Amino acid sequence: MTTHIMDQRYRPQFHFTPQANWMNDPNGMVFFEGEYHLFYQYHPNGTTWGPMHWGHAISSDLVHWEHMPIAMKPDHNGFIFSGSIIVDWKDSSGLFGGQPGLVALFTQADQYPDSDRPRQRQSLAYSSDKGRSWSMYENNPVLANEEHTDFRDPKVFWYEQKQHWVMILAAGDRVQFYTSYDLKSWTFASEFGLEEGSHDGVWECPDLIELPIEGSDGQCKWVLILSIGDHPDYTEGSRTQYFIGEFDGKSFINDNNSDSIIWLDHGRDNYAGVTWSDVQRPDRAKLFIGWMSNWKYANLTPTQEWRSAMTLPRELRLRRTPYGIRVVQQPVPELLLLREQSQGLQWSGITIRPGDNLLAGLKGEKYELICEIEVGSAEEIGFNLRTSDTEKTVVGYRGAEKRLFVNRCESGENGFHHQFACRHEVQLEPIEGRIHLHLFIDHSSVEVFANDGEIVITDQIFPDPSSVGLELYTCGGEATIHRLDFYPLQSIYACEPVSS
Ligand code: FRU
Repeated sequence: MTTHIMDQRYRPQFHFTPQANWMNDPNGMVFFEGEYHLFYQYHPNGTTWGPMHWGHAISSDLVHWEHMPIAMKPDHNGFIFSGSIIVDWKDSSGLFGGQPGLVALFTQADQYPDSDRPRQRQSLAYSSDKGRSWSMYENNPVLANEEHTDFRDPKVFWYEQKQHWVMILAAGDRVQFYTSYDLKSWTFASEFGLEEGSHDGVWECPDLIELPIEGSDGQCKWVLILSIGDHPDYTEGSRTQYFIGEFDGKSFINDNNSDSIIWLDHGRDNYAGVTWSDVQRPDRAKLFIGWMSNWKYANLTPTQEWRSAMTLPRELRLRRTPYGIRVVQQPVPELLLLREQSQGLQWSGITIRPGDNLLAGLKGEKYELICEIEVGSAEEIGFNLRTSDTEKTVVGYRGAEKRLFVNRCESGENGFHHQFACRHEVQLEPIEGRIHLHLFIDHSSVEVFANDGEIVITDQIFPDPSSVGLELYTCGGEATIHRLDFYPLQSIYACEPVSS
């Protein structure tokens, strides 16, 4: 019999998942010699969080991934927590005999001797064979700090103007910056954040990137992305905020008021995301991926053989909006590879009324929807997705309030945590009277990119495989559909059945 090992209940068909067992944060993403590397927090012996290793996968198109052997295992310095990889182009580390090579900087977690107090220190590993094998640096750890118990998740980048490396990492309730010329010895430069933004949970997984502002002839700003751990007082669980400002190679200055909080995603399932190193994208956009789960319930989601997926990879840019400069996220154009073009359907210039369903008769477990809607007199317009008699996931818009929402209260299996079933909403201003939505639906997720990536909602759902109906509904009045495209999406496993 031919079955597919990546075909189990709820297994995403175009999002990255580990073949088996537990995954959390994306780590060490780097592009080198034509390959996109994705490492990730991995527990190879179970489907819940445990002693952390780095799993590894490689892609040439960001869509299809080849699973590689485990890249890093715990050693005498502890478990392998989150971190980053850069290309050491000029061999500034002296580890590559003058050639370029890959250097990883990551947290190792153990305990202070004769104590229960957790200890987190930064270590270095290097690879001269394009990430296939890794050697631990003999003088690990390379950076310690006894003051902060939570001291982790280093993200390293090259700062061209000052010709030095910069490390940003989370230190409890702030981030710290360190600089280095050789990646091995690090000097404290500054810290940021004690009184800034949200402190609803412990700070984790920072990233600092320079992003272009759309339509501004190359003008850039620095964006500090920061994840905030789960806290029992907040229903949202773990989530990601960002700051926009300036960086001079040593310190970051926030352009906004210290109490302003800007969320990267308005759904529940985009956490610990950071960007790829050494990638050239059009107009200097950066490439981002997040962990599509939430510490609130990550260990409980109803999958069997594996647990957790990554979000779709996304390009990040900045845009001037009525609220100020904001990060926009767009799914990478490489995803076009998956469209079943011949089965695509398009509509335009259609008025819909309560009771109509333009999509009646269509079925799908994984597809893409693109639409441009004039809300008109409708009180509410939206999509019921992955429907059956008892299940639906709603992506809707309320015209008078200008609120976009996702409601996953009846999306499918949700009894594994009392706060999973939820509805969340966010302000979305129409552009010239129209709202623009781009949706990706997979076996266990919904991603909504609204107004060309200005607002994003990423959510897991666990519908029964037989919940395949879809509906475009309106209530309380008429709306005009200026554009609606529907594309079934191919599975990334379509071409590689495995015999059993
Ligand atoms: C974020 C995080 C990191 C840590 C890793 C451990 O999800 O808590 O701060 O390095 O997960 O797996």
